[in-house]
Order: sequence, then structure tokens, then C-alpha cells
Amino acid sequence: SRRITVRDIAAAKGRGEKWPMLTAYDAMTASVFDEAGIPVLLVGDSMGNCHLGYESTVPVTLDEITVLASAVVRGTKRALVVGDLPFGSYQEGPVQALRSATRLVKEAGVQAVKLEGGERSAHQIEMLVQAGIPVMAHVGLTPQSVNAYGGYPVQGRGEEAAAQLLRDAKAAQDAGAFSVVLELVPAELAAEVTRSLHIPTVGIGAGAECDAQVLVWTDMAGLTGGRVPRFVKQYAKVREVLGDAAREFAEDVVGGAYPAPEHAFH
Ligand code: KIV
Ligand code: NA
Repeated sequence: SRRITVRDIAAAKGRGEKWPMLTAYDAMTASVFDEAGIPVLLVGDSMGNCHLGYESTVPVTLDEITVLASAVVRGTKRALVVGDLPFGSYQEGPVQALRSATRLVKEAGVQAVKLEGGERSAHQIEMLVQAGIPVMAHVGLTPQSVNAYGGYPVQGRGEEAAAQLLRDAKAAQDAGAFSVVLELVPAELAAEVTRSLHIPTVGIGAGAECDAQVLVWTDMAGLTGGRVPRFVKQYAKVREVLGDAAREFAEDVVGGAYPAPEHAFH
């Protein structure tokens, strides 16, 4: 068996097949998703929030993405692994983008990279694609710009913003991106973008009409503490299960129930 490729992803749109994508940040979790048949795994800079303990994705470095992406690649056999280019690793221009993406491809072994922006990142996308690196673009809400937004507002509301979003998605496609993430976009607009493009759209908070759907795995599995965004559906209660396990282990140790005779060597 071989890995899923960007050509398989392109063919899926032609057949009208929808597909799921999850984030992953370590080898063991990635192997679970790989064995579950998730075709595309994203080593997202969301690792800043849900793995490294930062307040946003802004502080995440290329070194951090490279280490965790290499773990995800080692933990998987089938999935197409996409590595996120973190804030500050591609904004200077196409040459910096190529240097950063090349590191992720060579050192981590990812098969594609993702970066934020449509029109504003078109030159970077072109450079990477010319160099043979498949690129997933990301438009709508782009979390690396949190300091400019002053939060995480829904994008593409109003005629002008909707037209800009469509231009951004088209610019990504024209620059050679193999797919584009639409984050926090009204469902009707995401549907229009999806119909207008020949590359697949990957929705997150963008309604049901996108070609694919992505969720941050800790949100999807119910590991994230506190409030989760409205677009998240929790498919498990991992936070509760793990907390219960830790509490039971603690009780057993304090009470002397663990280790039992069968756990000891004589
Ligand atoms: O970093 C990330 O997890 C992402 C997805 C939510 C698209 O960019
Ligand atoms: Na990201």
C-alpha cells in the first residue's frame, strides 16, 4: 500500500467524493487516525494552542513544526501529511517560503505544505509549486493574523468581503494550489467558492457544501478544555476518559491496589 497523493485528492473532486482531514501532532495519535482511514493529516500550527500551550498560533516556529511533523510522518503509512508553514516563515517572499517548505519536505518528510493567504500569498504558492512542492492554501479567517483582526471573526460577510474571498480562493487555485481551506465563512459563500473552483475546498466552520472538512483533533475528540467553537462536533469525551483514568490510577496507588501481584516480578 502506498500513500495518498495530491492526484488522488484531485480525482476525488471529479467523482464528487467528500473527504475528512484531521490535525495530528505526534506519532501515536497520527497512527490511530491513519488506521482509521483518515486520508489527509495536517500538522497544523494549531499545535500552538492545543499542544504547546501558547495563546495563539503566532509564536509557533518552523523548528517546532518540523519536529512534530516528522513524528506524524513516522507514525503513518497511508495518509498524505501536510505541514503548516508557521507565521514568519513565508511572509518575506517566495524565496523564504521555498527555504521553509524545503525544510519541512526534506527534514520532516511531509508530502505537502499549507500557508495562509490567497492573493497576498500567490507568489509564494507559485514558487513552491514550481519547485515541486504541493501547496494547500488557507483563506477566510487566517489565525496567524489574529493581532490584525483583534479576535477570530467570521469572514466574507457583505458583498465586498465575499468578492474578496472568492478572489483569494481563485488566486490560490491560479497559483497552483492543490486545495484550499475555507475557515469561518458563511455556508452559502463557501458553497459558491466550492462550485467555482476545480480544486477541492476544505471547510472548517464553512458549512456542508465544501469538498472536504477539517477539524482540530483535540476539538473533534473532546480533549480540548473549556469552550470550543460552535462549528465543532465532539465525537468522543477523551478529556473525561483520560481524567477518570488518571484519578483511578492515583486512587489505586494511594490505596495500595496498584500494583497487584500480577504486575510485579519475583
Ligand atoms: O493549524 C490548523 O490546525 C489549521 C486547520 C484548522 C485548518 O490550519
Ligand atoms: Na493553521
